[in-house]
Amino acid sequence: MTYKGKSPEEHEMSAAEGYDAYASAYVHDEKKLDRFDLKMLMRALRLLTGLSVLDLGCGTGRLAPLFQKRLADHVVGCDLAPGMLEVAAKTGAYRELVQGDLLEELPFDWESFDVVICSMVLVHIPQKMIPHAMQEMFRITKPGGFVYVVNLPQRRAPKLYLPDGRTIFIESYIHADNKIIAALEEAGFSDVMIDEHKEGADHYATLIRVQRPL
Ligand SMILES: C[S@@+](CC[C@H](N)C(=O)[O-])C[C@H]1O[C@@H](n2cnc3c(N)ncnc32)[C@H](O)[C@@H]1O
Repeated sequence: MTYKGKSPEEHEMSAAEGYDAYASAYVHDEKKLDRFDLKMLMRALRLLTGLSVLDLGCGTGRLAPLFQKRLADHVVGCDLAPGMLEVAAKTGAYRELVQGDLLEELPFDWESFDVVICSMVLVHIPQKMIPHAMQEMFRITKPGGFVYVVNLPQRRAPKLYLPDGRTIFIESYIHADNKIIAALEEAGFSDVMIDEHKEGADHYATLIRVQRPL
């Protein structure tokens, strides 16, 4: 399902275009977003030292404090929007930052990562591309490795105010948790674990953890 009901002066943009334009302003939203997933990710992830970690759709590097607290020493960030990657570089949390598109083949070899984290990104992936996205995650995860997906099924695509005064919506889709889990299992993952953050009917996020079998 896509979001409707925009007025003519509000522009819908692709994720690449929209996040590039919004990158410098995104940092002001980070605290608001942290409350949805940071506690769940802290609960789920313990010592990351020595593990290769991918922050897939890393944006501005909002999860940098998680990596710092969990003593990660090998984190790669990947995002579609170069503007977001530029901001992420300033956190100093990433060994490498790479442009990549989850709708295509990701720029990583088979079995590259022990841990893949993908938070608040699937909201920009069309339904028909979810199986492809999960297959790519499976391909780049090492056998025995884990994938952590945060699903934030917002009722409405957030309205974003660009520094140049324009108001935009970024092309967004709602995905039910069970559809995401089914696609992950179909891709070959198993051992599903779920955590939830709830704030009334309209605000919730789910952390879905799966493992690539050995
Ligand atoms: C809501 S932000 C989340 C950023 C970060 N994961 C966080 O939790 O703060 C969504 C991010 O997904 C990226 N993105 C959207 N579609 C993508 C795609 N097809 N491939 C890779 N990244 C994508 C956007 O550029 C943006 O940085």
